Amino acid sequence: MYQYYNLRNYGFFRYFCNRFGDKFPQEAKLNWITQDKMLDINTIEKFDKISTPFYYYDMELFHKTVDYAAEMAERYGVKIHYAVKANVERRLLEYISGKGFGADCVSGNEVLHAHDCGFPGDKIVYAGVGKSDKEIYNALRIGIEAFNCESLQEIYVINEMANVHGLKANVSVRINPDIDAHTHKYVTTGLYENKFGISQHEFDKLIDILKKSEHINFIGLHFHIGSQITRVEEVFGLECRRVNEIVAYFERNGLTVRNINLGGGLGVDYDDPDENAIPDFETWFRTISENIERREDQTVHVEPGRSLVAQCATLISRVLFVKSGETKNFLIMDAGMNDLIRPALYGAYHKIENLSASQRTFYPTHQAYDIVGPVCESSDVWGAGRLLPLSVRGDLMAIRSTGAYGQVMASRYNMKDLAPSVFSDALDSAPAVVDYFEK
Ligand code: LLP
Repeated sequence: MYQYYNLRNYGFFRYFCNRFGDKFPQEAKLNWITQDKMLDINTIEKFDKISTPFYYYDMELFHKTVDYAAEMAERYGVKIHYAVKANVERRLLEYISGKGFGADCVSGNEVLHAHDCGFPGDKIVYAGVGKSDKEIYNALRIGIEAFNCESLQEIYVINEMANVHGLKANVSVRINPDIDAHTHKYVTTGLYENKFGISQHEFDKLIDILKKSEHINFIGLHFHIGSQITRVEEVFGLECRRVNEIVAYFERNGLTVRNINLGGGLGVDYDDPDENAIPDFETWFRTISENIERREDQTVHVEPGRSLVAQCATLISRVLFVKSGETKNFLIMDAGMNDLIRPALYGAYHKIENLSASQRTFYPTHQAYDIVGPVCESSDVWGAGRLLPLSVRGDLMAIRSTGAYGQVMASRYNMKDLAPSVFSDALDSAPAVVDYFEK
């Protein structure tokens, strides 16, 4: 019966739980209610009035994360450039730029957006293997801190364009150090088989071009070996030691390396976002400072994206239908791969919780569900065989750790609407749910 009720007031089940909930052991009830540390009951109640799906931003956690990263960067003497590609939400960028961080961009539009959100031109670096003439021109005009050049041809083009426009371009060179980041193959970037950076066999030609190009200022070397790196000390320690050798090679050959940019990559805990809400910036920066050799006149830069923003957002969705298949039960949600493509694209794991169940005073047993989205693709699966409390139509679900590479990779596939941002300090102004059962 209850499955025919509207999405917010899933009638019979809610009534039953509240009416008879007290018959069940109190400890179980308490466990249940406190299972989710990030979202308190008041917040969940407010979610009930908001149209789903949406990205919920915990601004307190976001501020704490950025503040902690800033404190650790200061302690270990590294400069942060936020990797804008992870999340381009204006409010986040304005806070990050206000902290004095720089921005790491990978497209002309990211450069313009970062600039518009308060990052001064001389704190913007711009990487990417394929920069168009228009993108190069706009970045030149802004006077960015560095083009992180990824091929010899790119250096020729930038030098030529700077010449035509009577400008000088700051250039850093992205090097492919051939290091295994021990992460997913789609987010590994520092191996010779990857398209990124310039490899050792071209170093001599590269040094020659850098010396001859009159319209560029060579400022340093850039590296980025991959993302979601969890073996922090091992992988970043190795990266630093390899970087030391490469920097020494360039300097022996007559180039002064002022900036050493080690890229991003610090992983986050997708399994337990409550336990490890703020990533371990200290271990990352300590590893760098213990392994990198730097002179007084050299600065060391990093480009965290995911680690600054992933844990502060949760994709909130509703169960549309519960369907019993031949061999399993499906929970069909209103958020799909169009909202967050990571599970479909990388097989990525995101923790999923039933928020409505956490409000019930009744503690039913867990069931295994295949949690899926509405998109017409078999890969639109949030998680197979996930254990959840008995879930019903209208339940609010939280897909955790979605602040990085979520909204920025969303699409309008199947002509779905884009899920909006809802901020924890502005919950009351979020778009309200429409009740189509009301006449
Ligand atoms: N710097 C450069 C040059 C990059 O290409 C990236 C990420 C970063 C910094 C930031 O890396 P992070 O700190 O976020 O790991 N869409 C994938 C991740 C792609 C990462 C691309 N480059 C995902 O959802 O896992």
